Amino acid sequence: FLIETHPNPMAAGERETLLKNPGFGRVLTDHMATIRYSEGRGWHDAKIEPRKAFDLSPSTVVLHYAQEIFEGMKAYRLPDGGATLFRPGANARRFTNSANRLAMAPLPEELFVESVRALVRADRDWIPAAEGASLYLRPFMIATEAILGVKPSSDYLFCVIASPVGSYFKSGAPAVTLWASENYTRAAPGGTGEAKCGGNYAASLAAQAEATREGCDQVVFLDAVEKRWIEELGGMNVFFVFEDGSLQTPPLTGTILPGITRDSLITLARDLGLTVREEPYSIDQWQADAESGRLTEAFACGTAAVVTPIGKVKGRTRNFTIGDGGAGPVAARLKAALLDIQNGRAPDGHGWLDRL
Ligand code: COI
Repeated sequence: FLIETHPNPMAAGERETLLKNPGFGRVLTDHMATIRYSEGRGWHDAKIEPRKAFDLSPSTVVLHYAQEIFEGMKAYRLPDGGATLFRPGANARRFTNSANRLAMAPLPEELFVESVRALVRADRDWIPAAEGASLYLRPFMIATEAILGVKPSSDYLFCVIASPVGSYFKSGAPAVTLWASENYTRAAPGGTGEAKCGGNYAASLAAQAEATREGCDQVVFLDAVEKRWIEELGGMNVFFVFEDGSLQTPPLTGTILPGITRDSLITLARDLGLTVREEPYSIDQWQADAESGRLTEAFACGTAAVVTPIGKVKGRTRNFTIGDGGAGPVAARLKAALLDIQNGRAPDGHGWLDRL
């Protein structure tokens, strides 16, 4: 990596003010990482450089055919003042899988991880120290060939930007309300559901807007074939907790994003002696179990959402409350177990931290 330090980085005082209440994704750090790919030449020109706008032809492939993939990951402040990434190799592997699905040039996984590390080292003063806050990292790749023919691009730009973040949900309520969409599905078998591509999120926005109009925080998608199995929310996976203490989450059948937080929580729950099933769960069963009390909690999870309790589910013909509609103890316990590892307060028994 060529390191080009910003000639005019943000003043420490101004940065500290922004770090106090960063919201989610509004504030970007001083630098970015970039690597270029050209057919015939491969990956080249790896750089850490001052963050700046891209100069793209109006016929650039990504602007027309959405050949774009991304990742979401975080850097955390450690008690000794150091910094760490969490399972960056897992993000690198998923990025390769997404690249293959979108017919893009795969970036060597070591280069992915090294670019994220180099950016966090350059912008380490931007990692917030407050509890629950972190530096969100957004690696992404776009097709940069300028051509209107529909075919995989010959050139790509890989980039990582960073944003200090607090909580993803603005409301600050103890639990969120979901809208069960009947008008829209997120992904069909054979589609791009398990790839982390911008197109999946674009396709979720009309459903998310419907959820917002209905007074809900997030949409929950059902499967595209039978429209009864719960898949995931607009940008996070979902877990269910039962009165016998067991957990369930929808299986990775190809239409669901294989969340790294999802995977980590399955492991942590099993470490705590809890049973976790990766099995389909229908929306009707969810309602019946919530109403009978067999289901005691549900929660959303993701890098951005961390662990967010679900209090209510609404739909065109349904409206039910989970438990007392607030935060439950199992979600709280798992969230604490995850954050304690990520913030260096608990032993990293699974070797998930990548200290910088
Ligand atoms: C993440 O959790 O990192 C995502 O990419 C999802 C999005 C809601 C920000």
